[in-house]
Amino acid sequence: MPTHSSMGEESTLVVASAPGKCILFGEHAVVYGQPAVAVAIEQRLTVSMTPATSWSVDGSALDANKHPHITMLRDIWLNEAPPMALHISGDIPRASGLGSSAALSSAVGAAMHHLAHPEKGIDRDGLSALAHRAEAHAQGGRASPMDASTSVEGGVVVLSDHKEPIGKWIYTRQLTTPEGKRTWEVHKLTPQQDDIYLVLGNTGVHASTSKQVAMVADALAADPSRMNEIHAIGTIARRGLAALVQGDYEAVGHAMSENHLLLRNLGVSSPELETLIRAAAPSSLGVKLTGAGGGGCMVALTREPKQTSEAIELAGGRSLISRLGNEGVRLEP
Ligand code: PMV
Repeated sequence: MPTHSSMGEESTLVVASAPGKCILFGEHAVVYGQPAVAVAIEQRLTVSMTPATSWSVDGSALDANKHPHITMLRDIWLNEAPPMALHISGDIPRASGLGSSAALSSAVGAAMHHLAHPEKGIDRDGLSALAHRAEAHAQGGRASPMDASTSVEGGVVVLSDHKEPIGKWIYTRQLTTPEGKRTWEVHKLTPQQDDIYLVLGNTGVHASTSKQVAMVADALAADPSRMNEIHAIGTIARRGLAALVQGDYEAVGHAMSENHLLLRNLGVSSPELETLIRAAAPSSLGVKLTGAGGGGCMVALTREPKQTSEAIELAGGRSLISRLGNEGVRLEP
């Protein structure tokens, strides 16, 4: 959307947008090699880039501490290029487990790649690898490729420690973390269209993903037999995934609710999440927390999005409605 301003400002050279994500199945168990399933949501982050006298983000100077993702991508694609002003907008709430930082990396990566190589289209494999690196760089070396791949690819993304016989395998990702080398097999599928919605309920409570992951690690160390619960989440994730492929949304919802009961037993829910889940359940096919838990968001699968959304708001949450399987990163005209 190149623009010309009557105020004599430079025109915008590129605009790119990327979706947030929501985990349908398998959070926490994915840390132990089980499959996890994420969908790209309708809510997006948009970045526009305009020539300027110095690098800036929404009016403040580009700073490697404040904007680690953007600085890393700038150094890769536009190190020698003239400076740009970045403007970021969108409707993905920040720090609530909906993948806003990966959406930032994938939209900024696509925009900068376009400026560096206008003749080339979006290379999704390369861009998602780079967005994953930017995530890991910004998170002390720990990040699964889930958020980056879902934001870049769109649709539904499945992660596992081995190739799963479902969807289309697209690539392998590896990362050396402070705990050692990790490998993920990444798959993609496009869900069948239906009159079905996700309603996300934000508790407004911020919980740290690393603390939640550490809490599960401690629980498993204290009682190794609880690894059965992790395997049970994997079994339900595979069942939910098979139902998703078949377009059997009643079975998808059922698997989501079962997944939630296991997450609650693991100790990663919270009173605020339980309140929103109870409120959304009567009008939904399935309900669960999504992401690390302890706060953040829950998700409901429903054919009555308005009713579910109102129930969540009445119970004190903020709600967002999304269809399943939205488009990945794109350049805007
Ligand atoms: O809250 P989020 O969206 O960052 O999801 C965390 C998912 C976990 O499985 C809890 C952690 C992980 O690294 O996969």
